[in-house]
Amino acid sequence: MNDNAAASDQPDLTTAGRIQDLKRRYAEAVTDAEERAATKQHAKGKNTARERIQGLVDPGSFVEMDEFVRHRTTAFGMDKTRPYGDSVVIGTGTIHGRNVAVYSQNFTVFGGSLGEVAGEKIVKIMEYALKAGVPIIGILDSGGARIQEGVIALGKYGEIFKLNTMASGVIPQISIIMGPAAGGAVYSPALTDAVIMVDKTSHMFVTGPDVIKTVTGEDVGMEELGGALSHNRQSGVSHYLAADEEDALDFARNLISYLPDNNLADLPRYDAEINYEITDRDRLLNEIIPDSPTQPYDVLKVIETIVDDGEFLEFQALFAPNVVVGFARIDGSPIGIIANQPNQMAGTLNIDAGEKAARFLRMCDSFSIPILTLVDVPGYLPGTDQEWSGVIRRGAKLLYAYAEATVPLVTVILRKAYGGAYIVMGSKQLGADYNVAWPTAEIAVMGGQGAVNILYRRDIAAAAENGEDPAALGKKLADEYTYNVASPYLAAERGELDSIIEPAATRVVVTKALRSLASKRASIPPKKHGNIPL
Ligand code: HXC
Repeated sequence: MNDNAAASDQPDLTTAGRIQDLKRRYAEAVTDAEERAATKQHAKGKNTARERIQGLVDPGSFVEMDEFVRHRTTAFGMDKTRPYGDSVVIGTGTIHGRNVAVYSQNFTVFGGSLGEVAGEKIVKIMEYALKAGVPIIGILDSGGARIQEGVIALGKYGEIFKLNTMASGVIPQISIIMGPAAGGAVYSPALTDAVIMVDKTSHMFVTGPDVIKTVTGEDVGMEELGGALSHNRQSGVSHYLAADEEDALDFARNLISYLPDNNLADLPRYDAEINYEITDRDRLLNEIIPDSPTQPYDVLKVIETIVDDGEFLEFQALFAPNVVVGFARIDGSPIGIIANQPNQMAGTLNIDAGEKAARFLRMCDSFSIPILTLVDVPGYLPGTDQEWSGVIRRGAKLLYAYAEATVPLVTVILRKAYGGAYIVMGSKQLGADYNVAWPTAEIAVMGGQGAVNILYRRDIAAAAENGEDPAALGKKLADEYTYNVASPYLAAERGELDSIIEPAATRVVVTKALRSLASKRASIPPKKHGNIPL
């Protein structure tokens, strides 16, 4: 390719000639390159870097930058292949009419690998996003650091990680994985707020199957090791398992609709018609709690009844499903929801659930999104596995996250709130602003049966010796304990709960509470930063 000369030997320096020259170069840089890219990517069932951007942003809104950038490497004969744009497409566009910045790696150019100039392009668009105060969305499809460029490529990753960290809590950062993300390259998405992976076509790992086989002898395939399902279900690295590329882009667009442009911007609000009357749909909540305390129910049904239009964007749904987190709107304004899920592991808290909820809470707090907590938790999951894996250290993250949060915190106790888990899940003492309970709530050090087994052990043993039914006595005592000691009215009497409400009134009560807290001002003592137990 002749870099600088025009098509003919004699340059046409008229305005029309120069415009013609621009068109020729643009065609080479974008249109022709795009055709070649489409042939390669479509054959693999994937879209091109630009097609992905078109699917992400509002139609016609994308403005590309640096399409004429080319690498400067000469090693390995690289100077003979210097495609325009290098291996990444960057630019700005809008989503739902709001500004965003985007980069999208182009696997058809050097495997989307990141060398000096591809790195410079990503750094440029990240800095642009930070200056403009708008979300940055990265679409990753790359073989990682460009092998021909060695330390220069590694250094660019370092710059990106630094910028990811500086941008954390300042602008929303979303990573959409649409191909490989290997080696240290995985740490850029890991530093962002949301990682979306496409089923079967995206893979993330620090060391691949071959290295693992050599070092540990373990035999594991690429999909099992670092596929979308593994990272959504097992590792918790990913927050959404997309069925295909379109689904991944839809999720990102949807997620953006709940997030502000930056940490100083207002939340995106939609006009909502609020009905302060209790509706028939609200009344369904009066029947959701089963009479038996051991019987589960689906907390998603509670969430859908409370929020605007029943719309809930669940986040990290497949990981630690015993706690549910996600975004919704109340009164047209975004909120984050953290809820125990009684139909998964009885809603107990474990390490994974604690970390999932803590990270979500910090994301919401950094972007001033109020939190609604729905509590039904019998306690922490017991066991050596949990203790030795650090449930003390890692479980403390959720406490820390609640205690440090300054956004409006509204908590509704639906049923069980036992032991430390009562305190962790948005208690008043940790800083919640408005706490209410349903009459079905049970707040105590432990459940009735557990308490009776300790407090009345001798009485129950004596009953057995006297020929009475120990189980019947245990149940009677446990019911009395639940009614008298675990009663939410004791907490209400002490003002730990602001009220006890009929379940059907939840939507109205929560809406009014969030309204009353909309101008909340709270701060934590000035410090360099806290030392969250990591
Ligand atoms: C330069 C690369 C490349 C890389 C792929 N290519 N990865 N070029 N640097 N890192 C090129 C290939 O040579 C090939 O060029 C084209 O991209 C497509 O690659 P294929 O191998 O043909 O594609 P596929 O079979 O789909 O396999 C994709 C892949 C594989 C799984 C990503 O290419 C691969 O394993 N690449 C190396 C991955 C890796 O180990 N990267 C370093 C990670 S460490 P041609 O010309 O033949 O089309 C890292 C450190 C980050 O990134 C550090 C942060 C601190």
